[in-house]
Amino acid sequence: MTERPVRDPGPTLVLGGSGYVAGECLRLLAGHPVFREVVPVTTSRAGDPVGRVFPHLEATDLGSVAFRSLEEALAAVPDGGRVSVLTATPHGATAPLVDRLMTEADQRDLDLRVVDLSADFRFRDAARYRALYGQDHGAPHRLESFRCGIPEWTPGPAGRFMAHPGCFTTAAVLAAAPFWKAGVVEPEVFVSAVTGSSGSGRQPGPDTHHPERRSNLRAYSPLGHRHEAEMAALLGALAAGTEPEVAFVPHSGPFVRGIHATLHLRLTKPLDTRQARDLARECYADAPLVSVRDDPPRLVEVVGTCRAALGVFVRNRTLVVTSVLDNLAKGAAGGGIQWLNRLHGLPDDLGLRQPGIGWC
Ligand SMILES: NC(=O)c1ccc[n+]([C@@H]2O[C@H](COP(=O)([O-])OP(=O)(O)OC[C@H]3O[C@@H](n4cnc5c(N)ncnc54)[C@H](OP(=O)(O)O)[C@@H]3O)[C@@H](O)[C@H]2O)c1
Repeated sequence: MTERPVRDPGPTLVLGGSGYVAGECLRLLAGHPVFREVVPVTTSRAGDPVGRVFPHLEATDLGSVAFRSLEEALAAVPDGGRVSVLTATPHGATAPLVDRLMTEADQRDLDLRVVDLSADFRFRDAARYRALYGQDHGAPHRLESFRCGIPEWTPGPAGRFMAHPGCFTTAAVLAAAPFWKAGVVEPEVFVSAVTGSSGSGRQPGPDTHHPERRSNLRAYSPLGHRHEAEMAALLGALAAGTEPEVAFVPHSGPFVRGIHATLHLRLTKPLDTRQARDLARECYADAPLVSVRDDPPRLVEVVGTCRAALGVFVRNRTLVVTSVLDNLAKGAAGGGIQWLNRLHGLPDDLGLRQPGIGWC
């Protein structure tokens, strides 16, 4: 069989350049076999090489590549050319940037593909965005162009504009979706999840400062976190729009990377642990980045990787699913590049099979 030649994807712009998620995008793209021309885009570090902003990337192919302003990065794309963008910028700031990119793409006939890693394109409804994020959407006329989804639960080609749902939501939906979609659980999903400090981004705050966080554990925004609605909406999309009630309690944990989520669900059909595990394994049989374990998965198994791991346990009608992933990788940059692969007709996991680090 002759291999289909991969069309040159053109440059890949990473917006939010010096932030944590952008840094993770650069780390993963540094080893990607197809997206070879990577342009880190910044508002504060133009001219600096990647290796100075992210010393852990100094020895990679991107170590000497300079950060650019968005204007500079776009000016280097020829009219009619292809360009991909990963937006790792704060919510609120992202929508006007995407609007600007789409407008320029129309004017210059650019073949533009965008994967948004912020929260700005997760809902098609500007009113829902306003209710959750407390501000007007920055480009409501662009919402229709985007679809939000987890690659494992969004089959088929992806179009040109995708929104990635984020770390907590990815961990919870990967855990609940097999059972919710199969119709074997009540429409109530209880999620308790612990995240590492890198989930709060690069700027330290009173609650994310090292002495406050190390050797500590606390819940925040119990039953009132924005990601509840995002979990409900994604699960709803798997059941003809019927959204389950999601009760979500996030915790901030004393580690840097990773999310450990524990979900409690009520079975409506008698299943034992083995049957429930088989059901989940069947769902993820063709998903190279998700595994279902016999033992509860540990965080360090997935830290630094683009994989998620699930543990499934049943007693009577109680179904417990534990879910671990790296918030910066599978929960943001890795999930985003998974989408970028799909947007370019490449295998989902291309360039995303990094081994774990095992201990940290
Ligand atoms: N951290 C996570 O685990 C995680 C997981 C899922 C999704 N996300 C989402 O990913 C995005 C980035 O998160 P992060 O943790 O990387 O945050 P971060 O460390 O604060 O980085 C954001 C970067 O965006 C740039 N920036 C800031 N304000 C901007 C503006 N007004 N316009 C354009 N660029 C601006 C800055 O880089 P320059 O100074 O170089 O421009 C900043 O370092 C957020 O939307 C977040 O919600 C984060």
